[in-house]
Amino acid sequence: MPYMEEQAAPMDFTKYFSVETVNRQRSALKVLRPYFEIPGMVSFGTGIPHPSTFPVNAMTISIPFAEKSVFIPGYNSLEPESLLPLAPYTAPSKAEPLIPDLADALSYSATYGAKHLLVWLKESIKRIHAPKYDDWEVCLTAGNTDGTDAVLRTLCNRGDTMLVEEFAYPGLLSPAATQGINCVGVPMDTDGVKADALDELMENWDEATQGRTPKLILMVPTCSNPCGMTMSEQRKRDVYRVAQKWDLLIVEDDPYCFLQIRPNGADSPIIPTFISLDTDGRVIRIDSFSKIVAPGSRLGYISAHKVLAEKLMNSRESATQCPSGFSVAAISAVLRAWGGHEGFEQKYIPYISDIYAKRCLNMISLLERYAPASTIEIPKGSGGMFLWVRLKIESHPDVNKRSADEIEQSVFQTMIEDRVLCVPSVYFKAPSKTVLTREEAARNSYLRISFALPPPEEMEEGAKRMGKSLRKEWQVEA
Ligand SMILES: Cc1ncc(COP(=O)(O)O)c(C=O)c1O
Repeated sequence: MPYMEEQAAPMDFTKYFSVETVNRQRSALKVLRPYFEIPGMVSFGTGIPHPSTFPVNAMTISIPFAEKSVFIPGYNSLEPESLLPLAPYTAPSKAEPLIPDLADALSYSATYGAKHLLVWLKESIKRIHAPKYDDWEVCLTAGNTDGTDAVLRTLCNRGDTMLVEEFAYPGLLSPAATQGINCVGVPMDTDGVKADALDELMENWDEATQGRTPKLILMVPTCSNPCGMTMSEQRKRDVYRVAQKWDLLIVEDDPYCFLQIRPNGADSPIIPTFISLDTDGRVIRIDSFSKIVAPGSRLGYISAHKVLAEKLMNSRESATQCPSGFSVAAISAVLRAWGGHEGFEQKYIPYISDIYAKRCLNMISLLERYAPASTIEIPKGSGGMFLWVRLKIESHPDVNKRSADEIEQSVFQTMIEDRVLCVPSVYFKAPSKTVLTREEAARNSYLRISFALPPPEEMEEGAKRMGKSLRKEWQVEA
């Protein structure tokens, strides 16, 4: 035994690691981090909202033990004087049961979450999505990452198969892979997952060569990450019918639902969601406050059949236990301040979606102005935070010499040299059974452009730089 003072040999911790730790895959996007830090880089890389969109820009908290209240500054609000007038406490009305009460919120809540907020959210789901069956329930989560984790842990075993979009959110692909869940991408078009492709995939599923038959499909149907597209009601109906045929559960990860473009504001209805079409109780809907309040709020909610909701929440008992009470109290207060359901639906949601709609349309017009039409195909855009721009690899000078992936990588590198960062589609590609021909691969290569964060001048500079890189790559004259 070495004496304590002797230099012990470094411990080998690896023998303590669980299978999950050994298999843990970090998000593929983490390798892009060093590029974000290059000075002068215009980043269209991350889907982070601009802090000016956070609806809370200062707080004071009262701390009796310190005999003072402490001011917590926020965006453009560095002085306590910038605090807005205090509203007197009013008892909640029956229709708006929100009770932002710290005595309650700062205690352990029942796992389903603070009752008053749940009642409000359930009413909100009813008003906005109107599920067509009775036995559904709402429960709080710590955001959609937590909600998705609950779904994966509740419904999937190691070796199970989960269907996902052909290009999927890496924050889903990596934890699924860590848990030994085989994700399989379903082919998409500009309207999202193709119902006929889903049907064909299920029809031809062969457990001997492809593993266990899938029992669920997860999609991001509104302003999707990465593809920025929003599935039409008809496409949702078609996919739902195929899900019924093969008895698949549908997981609707929908954090961008309220950021969709609505040309007439509150008068433009939101596109019906999967849960609003669901008659069987096969849809698990996952909502988040991350994109409409702030990512750091770490609050979200799941709506699902009550049998599923109970199991999903039981999985949180040993994970988050319950969401942060500070967040529950603050968000309840924010929802009340917005004017409850009416204020949320008629004023706040149209306001926030308009911010993203303008950014989206501005990005499109900048690309139309600065990027040669022979190099990229610009989508219509549906709001949210992303544009999914197709690279016209079929007209790239090296199309017959290099693979589509190699050309995509080269375009990415040229853009980095020109100090503009977009994310190539390879980072989002889900494992797939589909083998593309060379011609098909040349037409299936994209860049994800996030227009959520850069200020307008930087957006224009970034678009100019993209135009420069694309001209170099495609050898197009200025
Ligand atoms: C499709 C998708 N799902 C889930 C998340 C994570 O959301 P949350 O912050 O609520 O965990 C994101 C965030 O970027 C996302 O794009």
